[in-house]
Amino acid sequence: MRSVIDIPDLSLDELKELIDVAMDIIANPQKYAEACHGKKLATLFFEPSTRTRMSFEAAMYELGGNVISVTGAGTSSAAKGESMADTAKTVSCYADIIAVRHPKEGSAYVMAQNATIPVINGGDGGHSHPTQTLADLLTIYREKGRFEGLTIGLCGDLKFGRTVHSLIQAMSRYNGNKFVLISPEELKVPSYVKKDVLQQRGIPYEQTTDLEGAMPQLDILYMTRVQRERFFNEEDYLRLKDSYILNMEKLKNAKPDLAILHPLPRVNEISVAVDNDPRACYFKQVLNGKYMRMALILKLLKEAQNEH
Ligand code: CP
Repeated sequence: MRSVIDIPDLSLDELKELIDVAMDIIANPQKYAEACHGKKLATLFFEPSTRTRMSFEAAMYELGGNVISVTGAGTSSAAKGESMADTAKTVSCYADIIAVRHPKEGSAYVMAQNATIPVINGGDGGHSHPTQTLADLLTIYREKGRFEGLTIGLCGDLKFGRTVHSLIQAMSRYNGNKFVLISPEELKVPSYVKKDVLQQRGIPYEQTTDLEGAMPQLDILYMTRVQRERFFNEEDYLRLKDSYILNMEKLKNAKPDLAILHPLPRVNEISVAVDNDPRACYFKQVLNGKYMRMALILKLLKEAQNEH
């Protein structure tokens, strides 16, 4: 059964197909209004979420389907000690497709191994968040018109920020891109991402602590929140949380067509004044996430139907 746990689960052709379907949904929403009639999505969120869970649910409703859900680690039998494997087998009896978020890395993979229906990873610990990357890709496509030849600045918590790891996976598959990794020393991109992705593919990248120094060369600036929930002690979080705050002053040497992205939620990383700048794309990114999740649900349900 086909599931999507990490970005490499989707080929470049499939990413293009999802973008094309999302663009068609935007242009012709009525065409898709009954596409999932009679189907059920189960959203299993064992960790807080606003965008991912609600956009999956809105996506399924807009496709004419229904949603059943678990929200919060304490509200399902996981709180009584039920395993992910047993939860996967159980939910497979009720739904046609699962979207899952869990604080443990690898949990979505375990669920996919045990489910008899497609599983979509809605974020597993600090590992991966592939549908956020789909939202990011549609935003880049709509703002820049291409995926190649871009200088992409990633700023903030690059160690625990799973959206960063997935976006590097995705954008390093296109030609001519360069990454500028902007973070405090303690929050650098993990070495497995640098070695297994950037170095293995020969992708140019630089690491710096200086956001303003990096700014003039950037086509995309991807800001991220310092991930409080993944820190071992509060003291370190408090010391690092405001390392980067993007404001209009810091944007003075930025390109006029810079695209500013953020997976959200935002805490302090972007001043609210930046929201009115035409280069701010993070709320467009939220909406793009719903369209890409619609496209992905359609694709996986179609493939599951063809398997039977
Ligand atoms: N971007 C994102 O994953 O947001 P939520 O945590 O609100 O789902």
